[in-house]
Amino acid sequence: METPITVVILAAGLGTRMKSKQAKVLHQAGGMPLIEHIVGTALALAPPERIFLVVGHQAGEVQAAVAHHGVQFIVQAEQRGTGHALLVCRERLSGLPGHLLVLYGDCPLLTPGALRQLVEAQEQGEAAATVITTVLEDPTGYGRILRNESGRLQAIVEQKDATPEQLAEREINSGIYCFRAGLLWEQIGEIQPHNVAREYYLTDMVDIFHRAGHFMQPLVLADSSEVLGINTRAELALVDRILRERKARQLMLDGVTIEKPETVTIDAGVTVGMDSVIGPFAQLLGHTAIGEDCRVGACSIVRDSRLAAGVQVAPFTMVDSSELETGVRVGPYARLRMSAHLEAGAVVGNFVEVKKSRIGAKAKSQHLAYLGDANIGKGVNVGAGTITCNYDGERKHPTIIGDGAFIGSNSTLVAPVEIGAGSYVAAGSVITENVPPDALALGRARQVVKEEWAKKRKAAAETRT
Ligand code: UD1
Ligand code: CA
Repeated sequence: METPITVVILAAGLGTRMKSKQAKVLHQAGGMPLIEHIVGTALALAPPERIFLVVGHQAGEVQAAVAHHGVQFIVQAEQRGTGHALLVCRERLSGLPGHLLVLYGDCPLLTPGALRQLVEAQEQGEAAATVITTVLEDPTGYGRILRNESGRLQAIVEQKDATPEQLAEREINSGIYCFRAGLLWEQIGEIQPHNVAREYYLTDMVDIFHRAGHFMQPLVLADSSEVLGINTRAELALVDRILRERKARQLMLDGVTIEKPETVTIDAGVTVGMDSVIGPFAQLLGHTAIGEDCRVGACSIVRDSRLAAGVQVAPFTMVDSSELETGVRVGPYARLRMSAHLEAGAVVGNFVEVKKSRIGAKAKSQHLAYLGDANIGKGVNVGAGTITCNYDGERKHPTIIGDGAFIGSNSTLVAPVEIGAGSYVAAGSVITENVPPDALALGRARQVVKEEWAKKRKAAAETRT
């Protein structure tokens, strides 16, 4: 039978070096909070009822960020170090046999593959625990791995406590461990806060196991990027870039063309269909789902939106919380927001804003319009400069335009108002009353032409001089 795995994720710290009011694990990289990444990785190895988050700083917010996964929480009211964080779990977890994986909330690049390697290494030997280590160009800030002459793990010494000679070591502690659960719970009470920081260091377990006749073994990971822990915002930016690269690469392998992939920003939760093309500097954010054969042009931003197959988003367009059906074309320089819903083949062109409106199939609004709280029928043509006046200073009102209607350029539709199917609104009209189907509505002053007026004026001016 397979050995059961329990996972503890340490996420109680504030993260002082972030210089932030917000708990470190709530900062975002790759489009989601750091804590989401590590919980996702943990879920690949253990069921949610076996995953325990140690929370403290902004415990409520951290729990809210990941509670939907069904994972468990243990509160560490006072943060007295990584060893202390595990100590507060002892009562609840010491009855659970098998492997105990310890992960950090600030380590979002870790993959399930690396964790499986860790568990495998632990299962092979007699060690009380296995710790992932790696060799870094610049090990500043990490605990250093000290080995004896025979290469065995001797101690882990923190940056703050290390001698200059120890600081020169480039092999570092990732902080990711696999313990024999029973042994850990038996020995963890031995940790003492005897160090510069006066904290309970989990790293002291190396020595504690030794004294009890056991040992901890290192597992060196070749890809050190996997265990990058975030302590500062500079590291947050670095990790964000790596996550973006991973996501773009995965999409390309799945059949998406990305032009200048180093410039795009694509969140982890985004999906893109085959043969779609993403232009330079595009941003695909949140829970966006893009179908096949779409194009998102340069510098466009699409957030929390659904694009069906064959949708074309021209450059410099913003699409937020909206739905675009098959073959829709938007932009350049268009803005769709708050549940804009464009039915199949609809066209929304440059400098058109659509808010909380439905645009019927094959309807067009090609230039310079504001369509808010509107329900626009199929095949409607909305002329340049059309404005729905949806707001009276206190409340919002709807505009309804029936199928096949034609709204002349520069029309002002004062809501609430309804334009009947198939009717025409003359250019430049201010429409304040409903228009029945198949009618023509003119809402402007009749044009007056005074013949010869200019000529006479000029003549009068000449006689004066
Ligand atoms: C720790 C390790 C260090 C390792 C590094 C890897 C110790 C003593 N040091 O140092 O050897 O190289 O991680 O990134 O273990 N946390 C709690 N409660 C606490 C303290 C911390 O939950 O009381 C959590 C933090 O929220 C964080 C994680 O534990 O997610 C690591 O804490 P942090 O303070 O960042 O440890 P480091 O100083 O980086
Ligand atoms: Ca850290």
